[in-house]
Amino acid sequence: MIADPILRVEALSASIDGQQVVEKVDFEVPATGVTAVLGRNGVGKTSTLKAVLGLISRSGVVEFDGVRIDGERTHRVVQRGIGYVPEDREVFASLTVAENLRLAARGGAPHRDMVDELFPDLVARTAQRAGSLSGGQQQMLSLARVLMNDNRLLLVDEPTKGLAPRIVTEVAAALERAAAVTPVLLVEQNLPVVRRLAHTVVVIEGGRVIHAGPAAELLDDDERTQQLLGVHSTDHSAPRGDTDHSAPRGDTDHSAPRGADNTREETS
Ligand SMILES: Nc1ncnc2c1ncn2[C@@H]1O[C@H](COP(=O)(O)OP(=O)(O)OP(=O)(O)O)[C@@H](O)[C@H]1O
Ligand SMILES: [Mg+2]
Repeated sequence: MIADPILRVEALSASIDGQQVVEKVDFEVPATGVTAVLGRNGVGKTSTLKAVLGLISRSGVVEFDGVRIDGERTHRVVQRGIGYVPEDREVFASLTVAENLRLAARGGAPHRDMVDELFPDLVARTAQRAGSLSGGQQQMLSLARVLMNDNRLLLVDEPTKGLAPRIVTEVAAALERAAAVTPVLLVEQNLPVVRRLAHTVVVIEGGRVIHAGPAAELLDDDERTQQLLGVHSTDHSAPRGDTDHSAPRGDTDHSAPRGADNTREETS
């Protein structure tokens, strides 16, 4: 138990098309900093975030800043100040950068200046269609849409997936800056990024939490990391992804060659 968590999840279960994908998950998110959700491919990380938001059918307790929200619809949950950056970015491809931002702005977008400072690449491309941005720029746009608003918790799903190392560093820096203001629940498979950003980790396997604790404690224990995640915590040889999948990207991240991504390889 931590004091005054911003998010508390208890016995959260969720299903998609009748198939249970999250099974009685318990965890807490402190009101500051980054909490990372880790786990191998397909274990239910995205589904856990979607269950918190009420995007998929769920049962159990979800408490946001001490208030139960598990009975609420997604739009109400979002109105409470939970920003979501989905795994596949989901920018409006046919709209410009400026239009994408305008559509997402709430309450006068109080942090718009910070976003412009964090992502000069986007400022230089306000009139460009989002579909013609590189993967990294689309990720920045997707982040910008939630960072500029006055959220109280951010749920960010694999923001560095498939990005070139330089862009990974930029995205991590933006998240670090955002997390100084707003707590972040981050799904992330790039362990150097987890080490840099997260103070707490929650590891999921088969829809259940199999480990929770300080990030450094897990990542300093290579054998345990290998056991829980199937990758070495010290393996920095191949940063996730390979290249920044350049524009145009009509699809989302399905093009990311997963075989090239060492953090996703099952080694057993
Ligand atoms: N739309 C869907 N329809 C049917 N099954 C789904 C759907 N989305 C996810 N699943 C299944 O739910 C389980 C959990 O998927 P989820 O996307 O939550 O995992 P994940 O940990 O985020 O995976 P990844 O590492 O690939 O992002 C998987 O077995 C997956 O096949
Ligand atoms: Mg996922």
